[in-house]
Amino acid sequence: MQEKLVQLEKLREESQKGGGEARIEAQHERGKLTARERLDLLLDEGSFVELDRFVTHRAHGFGLEKKKFLGDGVVTGYGTVHGRLVYVFSQDFTVFGGSLSEAHAEKIVKIQELAMKNGAPIIGLNDSGGARIQEGVVSLGGYADVFLRNTLASGVIPQISVILGPCAGGAVYSPAITDFVYMVRNTSFMFVTGPNVVKTVTNEDIDMEGLGGADIHAGTSGVAHFAHDSEAESLEAVRELFQYIPQNNTELPPNGGSEDPADRMEERLLDLVPTNPNKPYDMRDVIGAIVDDGSFYEVQPDFGANILVGFCHLGGHAVGIVANQPSVLAGVLDIDASIKGARFVRFCDAFNVPLLILEDVPGFLPGVNQEHGGIIRHGAKLLYALCEATVPKVTVITRKAYGGAYDVMNSKHIRGDVNLAWPTAEIAVMGPKGAVEILFRKEISEADDPAAATDEKIEEYRDTFAHPYIAAARGYVDDVIDPRETRPRVISSFDMLRNKRDSNPPKKHGNIPL
Ligand code: HXC
Repeated sequence: MQEKLVQLEKLREESQKGGGEARIEAQHERGKLTARERLDLLLDEGSFVELDRFVTHRAHGFGLEKKKFLGDGVVTGYGTVHGRLVYVFSQDFTVFGGSLSEAHAEKIVKIQELAMKNGAPIIGLNDSGGARIQEGVVSLGGYADVFLRNTLASGVIPQISVILGPCAGGAVYSPAITDFVYMVRNTSFMFVTGPNVVKTVTNEDIDMEGLGGADIHAGTSGVAHFAHDSEAESLEAVRELFQYIPQNNTELPPNGGSEDPADRMEERLLDLVPTNPNKPYDMRDVIGAIVDDGSFYEVQPDFGANILVGFCHLGGHAVGIVANQPSVLAGVLDIDASIKGARFVRFCDAFNVPLLILEDVPGFLPGVNQEHGGIIRHGAKLLYALCEATVPKVTVITRKAYGGAYDVMNSKHIRGDVNLAWPTAEIAVMGPKGAVEILFRKEISEADDPAAATDEKIEEYRDTFAHPYIAAARGYVDDVIDPRETRPRVISSFDMLRNKRDSNPPKKHGNIPL
């Protein structure tokens, strides 16, 4: 026995060494951690249990028979984050560039299936040269096996991808299917084809960072949800996400446990909305004032910045916030904002996270680019997502709720459960100026002083329509509240809705306008 144990210990030690000292050093020189160092940062100390450490590839040719590394380029297993079970895989770039072989794929699939069966989130740390070139179609098949499990697990368990190195070719589609993608500036890249192919095909000159770096995907393409400066920050941010998400679609998200009083009134909300309705303000200030401890875990802060989405706790309830942002493009809904909002709403609805909608929206963005880009199709995504969501849904209208955007932003008509308005709310088909120009074009053009006539009509329109009381008289808003009491009222609403049950008609699945 003793001999066998010595052999086991030797093999275990060997399995820790990845592709060897030199390659580990090269990894560190690039500012990157190893697969195991990353797991140490991600998981609770000492919680990681490794599976499949003795797996090796089965490929032949190119001298591969003699070139085998225990684990075959991916470290897999389970552990805990804040005491909660998670499944993990961490690709090891020091072994064949972290490339995906048949055996490597089988290890990931095993973890995916365990995560599904046991109802726990899966976190993938990606650092890979893509399909293992020497294994050809078998490696492509391995990717497809992973994609299939990603798709089957979607909406069942949270799936999180952290990109910590290259992620190229078809390999990008596994992270793309997952719920949240984290990237690190200067060391992680995602693209379907790299700069060389781009140069050959389109004659465009661009480097890796410019083509598919963290800021590009977090700010321009919307592929990533978070960009950080270091791997440590990125992995810490993943740990933080776990304060808001449940283990699976049959469980509730964790309670916040804050001591921030639920009945806290906020004086600063009184002066937040400027008297001039065309002046911007930062909706983050509203969020900061009402959520527990002012703590907002913002998702995709740099993409479609005219809408804010993210997680918070309110009176302990984990809540997803979708808020128009008047300080960017006046909070208008455009293509990026609609897509961003819709995807976030669908995550929350799939995983029992209640929704708070903070509304100050002048409408959808006009323009040829938007129309030709499909604002109709994309705007419909946000509408569809909020219509189909059955989690508790609370709306607070702080100022503008104009036109179709009034309907879209969780109006009563699309199953908003509690709809509140501040006295500053303006709920109307359109803004005063636009309305007056349509309704009184003739009178204004014939007036002695057209500007004065316009102002007079605008004032009349404001008095008639630009307030919340017509909607309140119909019950389209449940109450008009003092802005200071927003936090207590919202928390009371989520308390009241705690046991909400609602459903959609049975169907295979809907057909959201993709
Ligand atoms: C086998 C690979 C590999 C691969 C890298 N390596 N990629 N081995 N298959 N796909 C190995 C290298 O031979 C090298 O081995 C080690 O990993 C490190 O690679 P380097 O090139 O030295 O590193 P670096 O200069 O940092 O460049 C990293 C890289 C580059 C940008 C990822 O290696 C690269 O371009 N690789 C190929 C990327 C690619 O085209 N993959 C296929 C994409 S298509 P040694 O022994 O020297 O350490 C795809 C299809 C997915 O993935 C299918 C889904 C449908």
